[in-house]
Amino acid sequence: MKKKDLFKRKKKRPEDLHENPLDYFRDETLNQYASSKSMMRIQQKITLRAMELLNMEKENVLILDAGSGPGFSSAIIKDLGFNVVSLDLNEKLLNFYKIRELNPIVGDICSLPFRPEVFDGIISISAIQWLLKENKSKFFQDFSRAIKNFHEILKKNSNLVLQFYPKNEHVLKEMGKIITDATSFKGNFIIDNVNNPKKRKIFLHLNKNH
Ligand SMILES: C[S@@+](CC[C@H](N)C(=O)[O-])C[C@H]1O[C@@H](n2cnc3c(N)ncnc32)[C@H](O)[C@@H]1O
Repeated sequence: MKKKDLFKRKKKRPEDLHENPLDYFRDETLNQYASSKSMMRIQQKITLRAMELLNMEKENVLILDAGSGPGFSSAIIKDLGFNVVSLDLNEKLLNFYKIRELNPIVGDICSLPFRPEVFDGIISISAIQWLLKENKSKFFQDFSRAIKNFHEILKKNSNLVLQFYPKNEHVLKEMGKIITDATSFKGNFIIDNVNNPKKRKIFLHLNKNH
């Protein structure tokens, strides 16, 4: 398969159409997303794979779900036996269900409200593409802030797994450069179902060892 085919999309994605996720996840779209059983199943399936990559022990572990939406991913993390903090920009999504046991916090991935080295693991499912606008100088700023934040709040010898929808290979290369320049993270991109466009999923797996 040619590399450019990896990123081919039939339809524009929400982040191609809206600058700010709060402009997309509102009114009817917000209700439809948060009530969708198929969306719940998709998010849960991707989350199970991300948790496999995160490879955590279950004892007294605290995981951040960054860009948690209504909590589909967080709920499965909780069901697996982990403590979870669900963070999202959108208060309405965090209030859609009664998710108090998921420790919901309104916040921005680009300026996280946590002390250094508090999390044993971080996942983010289908959210980071909102920070990856390749044709704007802000692209570098937003992702750079986010990755520095993640690095700061993660404990040593811990992992981060991001699943997201990059627009092209250039985005992956720029992400790699930013990660290397701004943090001590080591890791790689993992592509599942590379030959099946419908099932293909791209993950970034990073380890903080110091
Ligand atoms: C596809 S949705 C939620 C996916 C989530 N894994 C779930 O289980 O539903 C992506 C979410 O990312 C959130 N988001 C996007 N940019 C964000 C940012 N900078 N900080 C926090 N949340 C953000 C959006 O508000 C949205 O709720």
